[in-house]
Amino acid sequence: MDRRHAVKWAAAAVVAAMAGGAAAQTGSIKVGFMLPYTGTYAALGTAIENGFRLYVGEQGGTLGGQKIEFVRVDDESDPSKATDNVNKLIKRDQVDVVVGTVHSGVAMAMAKVARDSGALLIVPNAGADAVTGPMCAPNIFRTSFSNWQPGYAMGEVMAKRGHKTAVTITWKYAAGDESVNGFKESFTKGGGKIVKDLTVPFPTVEFQSLLTEIASLKPDAVYTFFAGGGAVKFVKDYAAAGLGKSIPLYGAGFLTDGTLEAQGDAAQGLLTTLHYADGLDNPRDKAFRLGYAKAYKLQPDVYAVQGYDAAQLLGVGLAAVKGDKGKRDAMYAAMAKARIDSPRGAFTLSKSHNPVQNIYLRKVEGKVNQVQSVAIKALADPGRGCRM
Ligand code: BEZ
Repeated sequence: MDRRHAVKWAAAAVVAAMAGGAAAQTGSIKVGFMLPYTGTYAALGTAIENGFRLYVGEQGGTLGGQKIEFVRVDDESDPSKATDNVNKLIKRDQVDVVVGTVHSGVAMAMAKVARDSGALLIVPNAGADAVTGPMCAPNIFRTSFSNWQPGYAMGEVMAKRGHKTAVTITWKYAAGDESVNGFKESFTKGGGKIVKDLTVPFPTVEFQSLLTEIASLKPDAVYTFFAGGGAVKFVKDYAAAGLGKSIPLYGAGFLTDGTLEAQGDAAQGLLTTLHYADGLDNPRDKAFRLGYAKAYKLQPDVYAVQGYDAAQLLGVGLAAVKGDKGKRDAMYAAMAKARIDSPRGAFTLSKSHNPVQNIYLRKVEGKVNQVQSVAIKALADPGRGCRM
């Protein structure tokens, strides 16, 4: 770290210690969830919170010997409200840690506030490459993925399957752009050619004219990033347009995670890449799935796993300082070198605090994303632009 950054972080740590003062007197840790509880990503926010609460519940409601309290803000996946929302948690509610969010644009605004204030931020979904790239910081951690990771893995898979040309289609915002960039990087390296990049504004679900265009472009295959309610609509529209039979559809695994009940027949056989899958044969996953189903009467998805692991990571940090949240340097050091025993398989963090993890190739079979193989083992995001 250069001197300018060292001074900045020291000042931020003082501000953060002062901000944490109120909760310290109560002997508890205040967790502020900033997640979407409305809109196309609402189910994702709920699954993350469920996963986080499940882990805390399994620890008897404490982490590092401290009682965990919760407050929450609905960020509506709206970047224009993000700075105000995160400041509500940090300044008004005086939380000790912010856990959020799903949408990459919102997460980038949160990361900026975390960098400036020194507040601890754990990102349990949003893949914005910048969060563990140029915006990386000692107090910012991610337990999910970078947008680059599943995209890069799928580019390799599709090139190896012999596809020579592809059209990409996604929402026009950081997550879509970066997922497609990751895909293109490895697909073109493997000899593939991009015929056209198609986009719709987030969170639009009017796909008809673009599906007509895909039909006339006749690529070997299509790569896509959509998630939540948008993914449900896209997969159904793709099948209804009759494209599924002639132009195979692939995607980052968000396309079919937490969505299969609603997608039904339209999703059958789809291949996707993600850091979680159904049918992983590990005891940690089996126990997690049982616990989740018992607590919520629902099957967990990737978002629930990421929330669960955000709580595990916080637990590692608090245990290292025996619950003394004032010892931020020691807490962050323990979190940075944590090995998280995740339902997805154990992972560590890269230098820029992003999971180094297996990316699985999955196939939709009935109501599950059945694991086919490990597409890339222990894939680390390049962390381009991170100086820490
Ligand atoms: C994102 O905006 O980073 C994102 C949203 C939903 C699923 C995956 C990524």
